[in-house]
Amino acid sequence: MTKRYGKLTALRNLDLTVEEGAVFGFVGPNGAGKTTTMRILATLLRPTAGEAWVVGHSVLNQRREVRRAIGYMPDFFGVYGDMKVWEYLDFFAACYEIPPETRQLLTDDLLELVDLAHRREDYVDALSRGMKQRLCLARTLAHDPRVLILDEPASGLDPRARIEIRELLRELQGMGKTILVSSHILSEIQEICTHVGIIEAGQLVATGTLAEMRKRIQAQRIVRIGLTGRIEEAQDWLSSRPDVMEVQPVTRNGEGDLQFLFSGDDDGLARFLSELVAAGFPVVMFREESGDLEDLFMRLTKGVVS
Ligand SMILES: Nc1ncnc2c1ncn2[C@@H]1O[C@H](COP(=O)(O)OP(=O)(O)OP(=O)(O)O)[C@@H](O)[C@H]1O
Ligand SMILES: [Mg+2]
Repeated sequence: MTKRYGKLTALRNLDLTVEEGAVFGFVGPNGAGKTTTMRILATLLRPTAGEAWVVGHSVLNQRREVRRAIGYMPDFFGVYGDMKVWEYLDFFAACYEIPPETRQLLTDDLLELVDLAHRREDYVDALSRGMKQRLCLARTLAHDPRVLILDEPASGLDPRARIEIRELLRELQGMGKTILVSSHILSEIQEICTHVGIIEAGQLVATGTLAEMRKRIQAQRIVRIGLTGRIEEAQDWLSSRPDVMEVQPVTRNGEGDLQFLFSGDDDGLARFLSELVAAGFPVVMFREESGDLEDLFMRLTKGVVS
C-alpha cells in the first residue's frame, strides 16, 4: 500500500506479509512509517492506494470484521483517570459486547495476566506509566483477538518493565496469537520475534525469519584490521578486491585501523589474511567484529527519512 499525507509520501508500495502465529518485529527509525502502517491495519486510517487484509478481511470494506479480529495498542493512549482499574477493563469489555455475567471473570483473568490484580481497586490515575501500559495491553485483549497490533508497547519503560512486557508477549504467542509489534530497538525485540521486517522511509528494506536475517549478516562480515603504517596504500589494495566493500578508516589511539565488509566464508577469510601479509602490509591486528541485527539495521537504514 501507499499512504500520502499531502505532499509527503509516508508509505511507498509497502508490501508486507505476517504469517499466522508469528511474532513479527516491525523495526525502523523515527518517521519510517510504522505507526502509519499499523493505523491502516487497525482501520483507523485509509491507504491512498493499495489494500491490506487482516485474517482475510479487507481493511477497506470489512472494517468491522477487522476490528473484531484485532487488538490494537496505539503508541499514545489516553486512560480514563477517574475510573478504577477493574472498571476500565469492564468498560472496554462492554464495548466489545461481552455479557455482564462473564465480564468479572474476564477482568480478573486479564488483570492476573498483566500482573495488576493487586491494583484492581486503584484509580487508573494512580498507576505508574508502566502499569498503565500493561493495563492498556490488557484492554486490547478483552475480546480475545487473534491478532495483536502493538505500537511500541515498551517505549518509556524501565528495563524491568520492558522485560515484563517481553515475557507477556511470549505468553500471548503461546496462546496462539499473531503479533505485529513495532520498536526502534531491534536488539530488544529480537529475542521474542520469529520474524523481522525493517522499514525505512516508507519501504520495507529487509524482511524474513530471524534465522534468515542472521544469515544475511553472516554473508557479509565486518572485519577490522590494524596496521602500523601504509594505511592509504592498504585502503586502495582493499578497495580493489571484489570480496571487500565499504572500506572505512577508524581511529584507534591515534593509530589508524581499517574496517570493511568482507563477503566470504572462514576459509576465504584465512586466505585473505595471508594475502594481506604476503603483500607486505604491517598488520598488527585482525579481527572480525561481531555483527548482530543492530548492525544490519544500521547498514540498511542510512538515516534517510521521507
Ligand atoms: N497525520 C499526519 N499528517 C501528516 N504527516 C504525517 C501524519 N502522520 C504521520 N505523518 C508523517 O508520515 C511519516 C511516517 O510517520 P509514522 O508516524 O508512521 O512513523 P513511525 O515509523 O511510526 O515513526 P516513530 O518511530 O517516530 O513513531 C512521517 O514523516 C510523519 O511526519
Ligand atoms: Mg510511530
